Amino acid sequence: MNFLDINKTETADLRSMIDGALAMKTARAGLSKGAPDPDQPLAGQMVALIFEKPSTRTRVSFDVGVRQMGGQTMLLSGQDMQLGHGESIADTARVLSRYVDLIMIRTFEESTLLELAEHATVPVINGLTDRTHPCQIMADVMTYEEHRGPIAGKKVVWVGDGNNVCASFVHAAGSFGFDLTFSGPETLEPEAEFVDQARARGAKITFQPDVARAVQNADLIVSDAWVSMHDPQSARERRHNQLRPYQVNKALMDDAKDDTLFMHCLPAHREEEVTSEVMDGPNSVVFDEAENRLHAQKAIMRWCLGL
Ligand code: CP
Ligand code: NVA
Repeated sequence: MNFLDINKTETADLRSMIDGALAMKTARAGLSKGAPDPDQPLAGQMVALIFEKPSTRTRVSFDVGVRQMGGQTMLLSGQDMQLGHGESIADTARVLSRYVDLIMIRTFEESTLLELAEHATVPVINGLTDRTHPCQIMADVMTYEEHRGPIAGKKVVWVGDGNNVCASFVHAAGSFGFDLTFSGPETLEPEAEFVDQARARGAKITFQPDVARAVQNADLIVSDAWVSMHDPQSARERRHNQLRPYQVNKALMDDAKDDTLFMHCLPAHREEEVTSEVMDGPNSVVFDEAENRLHAQKAIMRWCLGL
């Protein structure tokens, strides 16, 4: 099975992945990071991790996760492969499928991911495209539920740019049944197609550009960089000017509830989209999110491989 996006995966499967991730995390209590898991479902399996963009969390968490489950990994940079020098993604998919059991890719255009999945005969996982970042939001749902219990019916407020991470939150609202409020400039709203899909699945998606009003009664506030890896550097100044009113700072957190959680997929740009006071403050769970990438992706890989 491929894990291409949250909205393309059955809700029951997503739920079993979150529950599996929590169980696997619990089973590792007290073990050192490099110690093998109590069971070794990926023994004998080879996983290719392809990166066409930079990464810290995705790279390390997939690599460590595979090893903990007894498998082996191969880290591939797009530029070092023939893929970066003209070989087609379809042929790359066909070739890699002869060597490895699972492929994770971080790339630019979504079409690259979809073409890889179409031509690979092994499962493919989306490790971020310009359009979505589903593994991140699986970790975020897991993190919310670890801290606060079921996310269904809760109010999640996305503050800032309606980017790839925001898009997967929109998908997740449809799948996990939470309410999502978007607070950011109108020109940076998430794609209408995704919003319509989530609404058709029963999600309540609201747009509230007044950020102080948006965060009232929020259970979770989420932010991300103002300039993503796929955004042109020429757009940097304009984006900063547009997004400055949407900084998550102590004053904004004070407009929410005492126990409102704060999340950010990281890397963060401290004192831009979020202040250090919030990021290092008592409501922030950003490093739990980072840790949970490991556990959530292990569950995703097991699901993909039917293990
Ligand atoms: N959050 C996230 O995907 O981080 P990396 O870019 O470091 O992988
Ligand atoms: N929106 C960010 C997420 C990084 C993990 C980007 O695409 O650069």
